[in-house]
Amino acid sequence: MPLTVSPSSLVDHSTPCYYYDIALLDATLKEVRKHGLDKGYHVHFALKANHEPYLLKKIRQAGLGADCVSGGEVQQALDNDFKPDQIAFAGVGKSDQEINLGLESSIFCFNVESLQELSVINEIAKKKQTKAPVALRLNPNIPVKTHKYIATGLNENKFGINDEELILVLEALPNLSCIEFLGIHFHIGSQINHLEPFIELAQKTNKYVEQIEAAGFTIKVLNMGGGYGINYIEPDAEPIPNFKAFFNVFDTHLNRRSDQEIHFELGRSIIAQSGSLISRVLFIKERSKKTFAIIDAGMTELIRPALYQATHQIERIDSHENTSNTYQNYDVVGPICESSDSFAQNYLLPVLQRGDLLAIRSAGAYGQVMKSNYNLRPDFPVIYSDKISDQP
Ligand code: LLP
Repeated sequence: MPLTVSPSSLVDHSTPCYYYDIALLDATLKEVRKHGLDKGYHVHFALKANHEPYLLKKIRQAGLGADCVSGGEVQQALDNDFKPDQIAFAGVGKSDQEINLGLESSIFCFNVESLQELSVINEIAKKKQTKAPVALRLNPNIPVKTHKYIATGLNENKFGINDEELILVLEALPNLSCIEFLGIHFHIGSQINHLEPFIELAQKTNKYVEQIEAAGFTIKVLNMGGGYGINYIEPDAEPIPNFKAFFNVFDTHLNRRSDQEIHFELGRSIIAQSGSLISRVLFIKERSKKTFAIIDAGMTELIRPALYQATHQIERIDSHENTSNTYQNYDVVGPICESSDSFAQNYLLPVLQRGDLLAIRSAGAYGQVMKSNYNLRPDFPVIYSDKISDQP
């Protein structure tokens, strides 16, 4: 499924801009329903991947809940009509104000990352004469092959409660009268393209359930987090991630009881392939050993290549202006005053000229949300495929 935007609908559009393919998002959500929700799994969309109201509406209408990591995201979920009992609130450093917001909004669950956080939430709930619903975020020490900045499930990472701390937490829990213990939560990392770490996670979860229930607690909620990866190299070969294979891992390896709810927090796998950053070529700079294509989008619009050396497919959106089909290697770079402001090196593209439009693909997750106004860059427009005729 190549980019479904027609060049003529974009030629007059101001760039850079984000473009979302709504038909692809709908088709993706259908797969999540078929292989996840219809099997009784609860899926929360991770707002950190994207929090555009129009996209959130589609996602909520498909039956997903919200996974939030800040008071701002909890508020965004509420403002976009997610029901409080569909909202999970994770995060390694929740402020008192954010905890208050979660309690006052009666959210489904706080995913708690330390004994100290648990005590603070207990105290705040006591003052409000309420109980805080809590799942313990455990750090299962599972290695994943991903960029080191987005691996979260190892002992060396700041996230979660490790096995030694868990013993202390279980000792303390009975004395925390304003904590309602729901279960356990994990999130082992992001952009995980192999199923093995998820198999290991399911198997470790079974052991944690045994250990915690043997200590006298009942686990009602098992939250497996997110992290399922997408194909950045060839987005058209795999526009929708294989959700059947992903959920099958948990069908097969998790000892699931009928009195337990299984939750997931997927972000990237739901929205990444639906989004593209559209940019225009400003200048071509020829050097003896390379050619730069200087485009009007930069790390301020999509920071992933600069921050994680991430690869995004780049394609020329053909227009009548330039239909050349000879190819050349380019370093595709942005206008920001940093050498890290580069989208690709030695990247083969049809010969480019000033004014050509490029699509930087798979940018729907962690694209728009990570924008900045560095260099006093202005905000950019957003286009939805199903509303394109309404827009300038
Ligand atoms: N749950 C928790 C607790 C998380 O921390 C995350 C992502 C998710 C769920 C959703 O993970 P996903 O399904 O999207 O992999 N900015 C980085 C990714 C950071 C992910 C942070 N946590 C990037 O651009 O690759």
